[in-house]
Amino acid sequence: MSASGNRELWGSRIGFIVAAAGSAVGLGNVWRFPYLVGMNGGAAFVLVYIALAITVGLTVMIAEFCLGRASRKNAVGAFRVLAKNPFWQIVGWIGLLVGGFIILSYYGIIAGWTIKYMVGSFTGLMDAAAAGKSGDVLNAFLADSGNMIMYQVTAMLVCIVIVAGGVGKGIERACKILMPALFILLLVLIVRAVTLPGAREGIVFYLKPDFSKLTGKSVLDALSQGFFSLSLGMGIMITYGSYIAKDDNLPGSAMMVLGLDTLIAFLAGLAIFPAVFAMGVEPSQGVGLTFVALPGIFAKMPMGAFFCFLFFLLLFVAALTSMISLLEVAVSFIMDEFHWSRSKSAWLGGIFITLLGVPSALSFTGSPTVFGKGFFDFMDYISNSILMPSCAIGISLYVGWVWANSARKEVTNQGQIRFGMMELWLMSLRFFAPIAIGVILINGIK
Ligand code: PHE
Repeated sequence: MSASGNRELWGSRIGFIVAAAGSAVGLGNVWRFPYLVGMNGGAAFVLVYIALAITVGLTVMIAEFCLGRASRKNAVGAFRVLAKNPFWQIVGWIGLLVGGFIILSYYGIIAGWTIKYMVGSFTGLMDAAAAGKSGDVLNAFLADSGNMIMYQVTAMLVCIVIVAGGVGKGIERACKILMPALFILLLVLIVRAVTLPGAREGIVFYLKPDFSKLTGKSVLDALSQGFFSLSLGMGIMITYGSYIAKDDNLPGSAMMVLGLDTLIAFLAGLAIFPAVFAMGVEPSQGVGLTFVALPGIFAKMPMGAFFCFLFFLLLFVAALTSMISLLEVAVSFIMDEFHWSRSKSAWLGGIFITLLGVPSALSFTGSPTVFGKGFFDFMDYISNSILMPSCAIGISLYVGWVWANSARKEVTNQGQIRFGMMELWLMSLRFFAPIAIGVILINGIK
């Protein structure tokens, strides 16, 4: 029996890096990062973002990889195997809950929207958008829960089939096709956007460094964006870490994932801002930009329907590779703990999570609500503002204070490789990361 027991491992280092980058690259890269850059001083914000992503994000990511690889277990099992005090298992349970169940339940819905809009590009969306009515199209869709659930189920099915295929033959193989495809789609969209008349102004708005626009709030935004964007604090990187080969250089791989994630977020802005400015639309973010403003922009472009389709395909691919990583958190837990087969775990887990998403899909019509928030917003709020930061603080404190000696061995492959930043890494896990994430947590609650 090999050192990993019967556990399936990634087929290659690059396969693992692409899968982890696939998890990191999601809707946040496309609809939030460019907006934050544009609003917070362009290149000045990019510098702050990179500094925080390295000092906080990267440290937590390396810690998660170490926990996964050392234990060869899912997020909950990792703490059960490694921690003597059962208290720490709470951290794993929070990760499982938020990553494996809550986020996927509503992320599947938004992925469904992107499929709906791919279809819509050729079936009426462009006409409505040309008449300034893309907001009405979105509202009609939000009011039609049955239709929305049908698209959610479609997105979840694709995700389940891939995860049921296994770590190497399912997840890794799919990401090796999907991520290069995403990159090419993005390049095509950039070429289209920057060659529109009037695109220059958008590029200037996006990138011109302006340090006077950097405020305390920008720093906070950079921190929480980095955190969400790197898929931390939800069991994903522990789970993916549990399939990494013993001789892989963990800090090196984490750097690659961070680099790819940042590059794609940066490039997304080059596809969006030139188009937004060329067409004279107010820059906005999130749902308003993606499902209302951009269709309006595409409608005015030559071959707009085609580029609209490509854009929503890009979003679908970005969302799908993130969904895969979320479902794998649940599947790896079910397989380890209940000893079910992979395919049974993926199908039953996936169906359960889809059902859990139904109240969120319904909530766009006004109910159900929880504590005065729509169900969708409530799920989003407790996961991003409370559970994810709590899990990440737990991971930092555990690895930094309790597990540090083992972490030293794990991160250097039992002394086989050198890690020059060792002391800085541990210091960050002990002090800097928990405090910085604590600030996000407090800010999110109030
Ligand atoms: N990292 C993804 C993004 O940037 C979002 C994500 C969150 C993915 C949670 C998986 C889990 O959009």
